[in-house]
Amino acid sequence: MLPVCVTFVAGRADSKSVDILCALHYARILSDVQLALHYLRMEIRDAKAEDARAAAQVLRRSIAELCAADHGNDPVILAQWLSNKTPEIVASWITWPNNSVLVAVENDAIIAVGAVTDTGLITLNYVSPDARFRGVSRAMLRALEARALERGSVRCTLNSTETARRFYLANGFAIDGSPIRKHGVSGYPMSKRLAPHDSLT
Ligand SMILES: CC(C)(COP(=O)(O)OP(=O)(O)OC[C@H]1O[C@@H](n2cnc3c(N)ncnc32)[C@H](O)[C@@H]1OP(=O)(O)O)[C@@H](O)C(=O)NCCC(=O)NCCS
Repeated sequence: MLPVCVTFVAGRADSKSVDILCALHYARILSDVQLALHYLRMEIRDAKAEDARAAAQVLRRSIAELCAADHGNDPVILAQWLSNKTPEIVASWITWPNNSVLVAVENDAIIAVGAVTDTGLITLNYVSPDARFRGVSRAMLRALEARALERGSVRCTLNSTETARRFYLANGFAIDGSPIRKHGVSGYPMSKRLAPHDSLT
């Protein structure tokens, strides 16, 4: 495909529409390369105690800035939701037994935080507003599912925000019950049966 395009451009023998097609083709290659480079730069690893402060900050910003569809910018609801997203409490989650807190790291900065229990309950999956819609949550979700599988779970469950409902449906989760209210907002119970290949796709 690429050499054909190069021939067209070099020959200048074709119409403007061919040039546009070639430009689009190069743009797609470029965006694929950029995406690949992005994945190469990003690492998802287990959180360490010293990550707690930065991880709490990502959780707080993600909720405050990205989840307006859930909290409606109501300061009371927001304060309730953020009340346990402190460095001290996040540090305690990191050391909990039967629980994995994972962080996505890019250029030494934490850009997403996820957590899953050994029973497959995903309790956190929050991306920094600076890294939204770049595939980071998708990669984090894959890592959480892989960890649940590794620990013997065949199913992942979670309570989705309104904000992330579409994202989970697109990633193989299905609605699994009536909404549950927590921190003054509705959570949407969802689940997904895990198969070994799921975490690799
Ligand atoms: C919605 C959200 C989870 C997506 O994560 P992300 O890292 O930004 O996005 P990714 O690039 O990994 O995934 C993109 C997917 O998000 C979904 N998406 C895209 N635009 C969207 C939008 N405007 N609103 C909601 N979901 C959207 C789609 O499923 C998209 O997949 P597609 O590109 O194949 O269509 C994230 O942006 C977000 O708002 N997080 C807030 C925290 C939160 O609610 N976490 C869940 C706790 S249970």
